[in-house]
Amino acid sequence: MTSETVLEVRDLHTHFFLRRGVVKAVDGVSFALRRGEVLGLVGESGCGKSLTALSVMRLLPKGGARTIKGEVLLDGENILEHTPAKMREIRGRRISMVLQDPQTSLNPVFSIGDQLREAILRRKRAPYTRASRAEVTREAVAALRRVEIAAPEQRLDQYPHQMSGGMKQRVVGAIAISGEPGVLIADEPTTALDVTIQLQYLKLLKRLQAETGMAILFITHDFGVVGRMCDRVAVMYAGRIVECGPVRQIFEAPSHPYTRALIASVPTMSGPVGRLATIEGQPPSLMDLPVGCRFASRCSLAEQRCLDVYPDTVRVGEEHTADCWKVVPA
Ligand SMILES: Nc1ncnc2c1ncn2[C@@H]1O[C@H](COP(=O)(O)OP(=O)(O)O)[C@@H](O)[C@H]1O
Ligand code: SF4
Ligand SMILES: [Mg+2]
Repeated sequence: MTSETVLEVRDLHTHFFLRRGVVKAVDGVSFALRRGEVLGLVGESGCGKSLTALSVMRLLPKGGARTIKGEVLLDGENILEHTPAKMREIRGRRISMVLQDPQTSLNPVFSIGDQLREAILRRKRAPYTRASRAEVTREAVAALRRVEIAAPEQRLDQYPHQMSGGMKQRVVGAIAISGEPGVLIADEPTTALDVTIQLQYLKLLKRLQAETGMAILFITHDFGVVGRMCDRVAVMYAGRIVECGPVRQIFEAPSHPYTRALIASVPTMSGPVGRLATIEGQPPSLMDLPVGCRFASRCSLAEQRCLDVYPDTVRVGEEHTADCWKVVPA
C-alpha cells in the first residue's frame, strides 16, 4: 500500500451461504484505488461488481451473505475489523456510495430537504435546534447547487415523486458527497437514466471529482462509459479481477481474452450501426466454479493447463496486469 492509495481491497471473498449451496459472488478480488483517480470496475451482469462494493461498505444484503476472507484497507485501516458503530461513522464521511436506482436511496415519505438536512446533521452530530436548522438549510441548498439543481430553495420542499429520475440521482449524489468523503463508490449510477441524462450525470460526476479530489470507484457493465470516465480500469469476471491497467493501454492493447471480447462488443461509431457483438456462451455458475481459468469455457485460446490450473497474474506493463496463461509478460 503506497501513500497514494486511499482504498485497497486484498483477496476479498464474499459468499452467499444458501441451502442449495454456496454462491461465490466475490471470490478473490484485489485492487487499489488511488487518491483522486477514477477506477472503473467493469464486467458482465452477475459477475460480482455490486457485491464487491457492498462488501467494502459493509452493507451486505440480508440472506446468507458473508465476507469470509480478505482485507479492505481505507487509508491503511482494515475496516472489515471495525465495529458496526465505527462503520456508521465512516460511511458518508470517508466513503460513500451511489446506487443504480435513486428510488432505493431516497425515502418517498420525506422531502428532499429533510433527507439532505438529516444527512448533514448526522455528519455534524449536532442537535437540531432553530439555529442549526438555518445553518443546515443553507448547507443543503449549497449541496443541491453543487449538483447543478436549479432553484434549490424551492426543491427542498419537494418529494422524490415530484422529481425526474435524473434529478433524483443528483439529489442522491448531493447526499453522498455532502460529507466530503475521500472515496465515492458509484454503482452503475446512470443505468436507470435516459441516454442524454446519463451523459449529463457522468459529466457532473467528473466535475465533482475534479473539484473535490475524491477518488471514485466507478462500476459499470459498459466499456464505452469506462473510456469516458475512468483513469484506470479493473475487469471482473466470475468473482475475480482478470485484468487491470490504465484505460488507454487496455483500450489499445487489451491482454486478457475476456477484455478483448468485452471491448469488441462496445458499439463504435465506425462499426455497422446497431450491430452489437456479444460474447458467446455463459459465464460459469458461481456455485460451481472451475478450478482452472474461469473464462476457459468461452475462450478460443483455451488449452489443457487453462482447465487444470488458475492462471498466475502476469505483469504485462508497468501498471498493467492480466490473469491468463497465454499472456506474454512484459
Ligand atoms: N441476494 C442474493 N442471494 C443469492 N445470490 C445473490 C444475491 N445477490 C446476488 N447474488 C449472486 O451474486 C452474484 C453477483 O451479484 P452482483 O454483485 O449483484 O453482480 P453485478 O453487480 O456484477 O451484476 C450474482 O450472480 C448472484 O448469483
Ligand atoms: S488462461 Fe487460457 S482459457 Fe483463460 S483466458 Fe487465458 S488462454 Fe483463455
Ligand atoms: Mg450490480
